[in-house]
Amino acid sequence: MQGIVLLNGKVAIVTGAAKGLGLEIAKEFSHRGSNVIICSRKLKDAQSAASEMQNADPAELDITDESSVLKFTKMVSDDYGAIDVLVNNAGYPFDRKIWYKQLHEVSDDELQDILAVDLRGTFRLTSAVLPIMAKTGGGAIISISSTPAISGHVEGAPYTLAKAGIIAMTKHIALEYGRKNIRAYTLALGNIATDATFNSMTAAERKMAASENAMKRWGDPREVARVAACVASDDFSFATGNTIVIDGGTVML
Ligand SMILES: NC(=O)c1ccc[n+]([C@@H]2O[C@H](COP(=O)([O-])OP(=O)(O)OC[C@H]3O[C@@H](n4cnc5c(N)ncnc54)[C@H](OP(=O)(O)O)[C@@H]3O)[C@@H](O)[C@H]2O)c1
Repeated sequence: MQGIVLLNGKVAIVTGAAKGLGLEIAKEFSHRGSNVIICSRKLKDAQSAASEMQNADPAELDITDESSVLKFTKMVSDDYGAIDVLVNNAGYPFDRKIWYKQLHEVSDDELQDILAVDLRGTFRLTSAVLPIMAKTGGGAIISISSTPAISGHVEGAPYTLAKAGIIAMTKHIALEYGRKNIRAYTLALGNIATDATFNSMTAAERKMAASENAMKRWGDPREVARVAACVASDDFSFATGNTIVIDGGTVML
């Protein structure tokens, strides 16, 4: 492992880690020496993912459920004694039916469903983790957002709203908890080829998505995972509140 940024012994929670991007992030953290807690709403899926990695433990977690979040954070605090990294990856599944609606066509229920996971769920878990992190010397909170949260988009309005809230939350954490040595980052993603996105599109839609960025291709989930590992490490000890865009060059800040 010489030459790569290491996360030796850091206790890291990754939400939605049984598949897709979360799974790749968890694998990268494990590869770099972190103790990873693999979260899924289905314990079986978390167990199966954790069995593929070293130093990984499965856990059941539904971020829309207050009691699930409290039970989970108490377990982590009791069993590990610290939380060094939280990766807020869990997100409402890509739903074509909602995604392609114009803003005025989105129902209250559809908006609520997305906000409940992407924003309120992320906020709920982060709130429960912050005091534990603060008590044990600090850490890093990395939250997955999306480029429309910066630039706006022609579709997917409820996702944009929820993911914009994530950027605001990151900045608040950086300013409110910096003195506790807690750092916070948003990773704002373009088109990343996970099952949930890539495999749900037609060939024409995939081609169109690839053509949107300067590099003319989809991102690989491992390209996001490596950035997450870098910002979690002590190499980023004096950078906080940042939005890091990973989109092959579409949104230029
Ligand atoms: N792929 C892209 O192009 C792209 C672009 C921009 C942003 N993103 C963001 O990247 C993240 C991962 O996306 P993905 O492409 O890997 O999609 P995905 O496979 O649908 O991943 C979503 C994850 O969220 C978890 N989840 C859903 N509801 C949950 C809840 N109530 N409580 C806890 N976990 C919950 C799911 O875990 P279980 O079903 O196992 O519980 C699943 O692992 C999402 O936040 C997404 O918005 C992706």
